[in-house]
Amino acid sequence: MIVEVALGARSYPIHIEAGLLGRAGPLLAPLVRDKPAGRRVCVITDETVAGLHLPTLTASLSAAGIAVDPIVLPPGEAAKSWAGLERLCEALLAAEVERKDHVVALGGGVIGDLVGFATSILRRGCGFVQVPTTLLAQVDSSVGGKTAINAGAGKNLIGSFHQPAMVLIDPAVLATLPRRELRAGYAEVLKYGLIGDRDFFDWCVANAPALLAGDAAVQAEAIAASCRAKAKVVAADERETGDVRALLNLGHTFGHAFEAEAGFSDRLLHGEGVGLGMALAFRFSARIGLCPADEAEAVVRHLAEAGFELRPRALGLDAPGARLVAHMRQDKKMSAGRLPFILARGIGQGFVAQDVDLDAVTAFLDEMVAE
Ligand code: NAD
Ligand code: GLY
Repeated sequence: MIVEVALGARSYPIHIEAGLLGRAGPLLAPLVRDKPAGRRVCVITDETVAGLHLPTLTASLSAAGIAVDPIVLPPGEAAKSWAGLERLCEALLAAEVERKDHVVALGGGVIGDLVGFATSILRRGCGFVQVPTTLLAQVDSSVGGKTAINAGAGKNLIGSFHQPAMVLIDPAVLATLPRRELRAGYAEVLKYGLIGDRDFFDWCVANAPALLAGDAAVQAEAIAASCRAKAKVVAADERETGDVRALLNLGHTFGHAFEAEAGFSDRLLHGEGVGLGMALAFRFSARIGLCPADEAEAVVRHLAEAGFELRPRALGLDAPGARLVAHMRQDKKMSAGRLPFILARGIGQGFVAQDVDLDAVTAFLDEMVAE
């Protein structure tokens, strides 16, 4: 299956197919240039993914006459840092990557975000291809060109928009993904239903158990539906100048506060923060009379049944509401002292609320963390 991200001259295809990693060579070949050193491509990945999936990609490229220069980074969010960026840029320069070259990001959202940002500034910009290997990256971060590293003041605060030339998704690589990471990625799948597609929410409720148990066909269906939804949003509002792309931040403002409280560590994975944040966004929407209470509770129930821990206290993250709201003030959406929130009038009816009273959010969070 191919989903097109329609961005005029910068349009690109998302190829989705089980086993694609082993057949990537012919798809990547047109992007690899002939040079005196032969046909070579840099593949950037992390140690875990290198051990599991790099050999398949390397063999496929080799069969297409392309040699691989691997750059293997330690796994984890810490790679999305100034130090990680410097190390990667120096390695790409040492490999003589030129402006017209493409490099390959093989990994989760960390590798994709870091490689995307590095390639947006390397020699003032070179090309890259996303080969996402986590569910989160396959349904969200590899599509749409948001790239970033983290700063002392918060997550993803240094970045750029830089679209990949192609996205290659092999759902079969999810077979090696730990269950906890799979669930975290599922939050971003569910998000598409919650913001704009009630039928997809119903599909999620019916199919989440199979998806989380590793059913490859269901996973592939979820990936395709998510990529179609994301491609549509990105084509409509590539740089989040309107409200369309902002909807993809459902749950992120609430979730981010808890991620910050956890020090952006493994205590709360990004997708787990999004799951918790979406539950809170719906409950807050119900609290201020925007969303029917039973709709909010249906969302909370589904997330709990899918295994998300929705009690900050149980996560050890029961910080005072004021401190959580202080984390939120570092949000990239903050504008002239106001923080837009993605709230909902019901399932599938997300919208951007501009005039949210932060004192009300503080009081709400004080109550939620006490549960
Ligand atoms: P990740 O990249 O850290 O991957 C999670 C873990 O899974 C890592 O330890 C990795 O080594 C391992 N892994 C990856 N693929 C595997 C596989 N197939 N089998 C076994 N292990 C595998 O985390 P993530 O959840 O993919 O991404 C999170 C990052 O994505 C965050 O930094 C977040 O800010 C970013 N993000 C970006 C966007 C965007 O639009 N750019 C959207 C959402 C999230
Ligand atoms: N993951 C949010 C976005 O791409 O806009």
